[in-house]
Amino acid sequence: MDIKTTETSLLEWRGDGLAIGFWEDEVALSGDLATLDQALQGILQAAIEDAEFKGAVASTVTTRVGVGGNFKKLILVGLGKNEKVKVDRYRRAAANIARSAKKEKCETLAVSLPTSSDISAALFTQAISEGLWLALHEDKRFKSKPEESKKNLQEVHLLSLAGNDPAVATAQSIVSGVNLARELVAAPANVVTPAALAATAQEIATAYGLELKVLERADCEALGMGAYLGVSQASALPPKFIHLTYKPTGTPRKKLAIVGKGVTFDSGGLNIKGAGSGIETMKMDMGGAAATLGAAKAIGQLKPDVEVHFISAAAENMISGTAIHPGDILTASNGKTIEVNNTDAEGRLTLADALVYAEKLGVDAIVDLATLTGACIIALGDDISGLWSTQQDLADSILAAAETAGEKFWQMPMEEKYFEGLKSPIADMKNTGPRGGGSITAALFLKQFVNEVPWAHLDVAGPVWADKDNGVNNAGATGHPVRTLVNWVIS
Ligand code: BES
Ligand code: MN
Ligand code: ZN
Repeated sequence: MDIKTTETSLLEWRGDGLAIGFWEDEVALSGDLATLDQALQGILQAAIEDAEFKGAVASTVTTRVGVGGNFKKLILVGLGKNEKVKVDRYRRAAANIARSAKKEKCETLAVSLPTSSDISAALFTQAISEGLWLALHEDKRFKSKPEESKKNLQEVHLLSLAGNDPAVATAQSIVSGVNLARELVAAPANVVTPAALAATAQEIATAYGLELKVLERADCEALGMGAYLGVSQASALPPKFIHLTYKPTGTPRKKLAIVGKGVTFDSGGLNIKGAGSGIETMKMDMGGAAATLGAAKAIGQLKPDVEVHFISAAAENMISGTAIHPGDILTASNGKTIEVNNTDAEGRLTLADALVYAEKLGVDAIVDLATLTGACIIALGDDISGLWSTQQDLADSILAAAETAGEKFWQMPMEEKYFEGLKSPIADMKNTGPRGGGSITAALFLKQFVNEVPWAHLDVAGPVWADKDNGVNNAGATGHPVRTLVNWVIS
């Protein structure tokens, strides 16, 4: 589907569907809208009255207009009150419009939303474009006979704007990254293996000119990555330590590392996930790696003046005669020893060695993202990720990026005292603490593997997957938090 901005107004535009946005309690028709209503013989006003449409957030009204006019379908969408407007309102409104237009079988669509003095023109256009594309993404890769509809939305014009705004292309790059992450998370563990993640990294490297280094098991052994390799040792699939680098042409303004948990299936290991644990959903345990690669794909296209290292210690957490025993002691690449009192707390073991590796690259900041704990879902629910950081400026920059992205984060405490729960009588630490505050002890565990560099940890266990439609996403893999990562890198 193509999107472009155009100076054309809603009075001139011709095509299948016209979508118009309204602020809440501002649905009185004046100016161009009054003229349009007249041309439509009052259909616009009648549609508003019939549906008692007030412009509330997420409300939509669709109606057929008479035959022979400039267009066939009218889509009205509410934006909520015109106060404290955040850009995500536009993204969500556009997603609603896209869904309605699809239902109405529009092949061409025009969108006319009221601007807000709180939002720049570029962000306005970018967010609308993102919302349209994000809502229309479909994944039929695993259907043997995908239903094809003959009428698909092919062209969208964003009306009354300066023509050909490059913000549309920015949105397209970002959405391509989100969709890659969605597809990686949605694909099952027999498709997305550690080797498949490495192959995806290779495709990104080739397509956009990034550098790729894949460390094999022997390379990781040489680096002493005992924690990561311990997780992988029961799997029939070899581990792949992925390091993708984007370098700008000039001198980079800053150097960043993004580290994603890439457990392509989490059985729990010998502490196997039992009934009701959601083991059948654990293909999504590489959501961090998926978003890392999604961000790489977007950054590879956007080409900011920032050097970015995209890292994932990809592995499968399985069971076999070579599995780690609960109680085994592993040594990570910084020399620290870990008593594995629970083999299901495996993500932090893979991240430990990945964080040590990232810090050695001499970056200015490290962000890791991981479907790390069920405890974070208990704390914050399905829609909000936890954020921990050793530096408040870094935390603030991620929160600001997330707000523009329309992705939700809540800063959690790095409560040092809770590290007591990870004390081991025999090794430097255990990998699992008490049940209470489980997402916090997980963050404190990771902190043992970062020395100096400002670091933030994102526990994305809830938001990488949506059980039902949540506005911009259809049910399933969401691609969270690709948009936040990209905004953070380019900020
Ligand atoms: N991958 C899981 C966390 C998870 C759970 C993600 C549910 C998404 C949905 C992680 O490896 C895990 O198993 N964590 C354990 C840790 C515990 C053993 C300390 C958990 O959260 O129960
Ligand atoms: Mn686990
Ligand atoms: Zn896991």
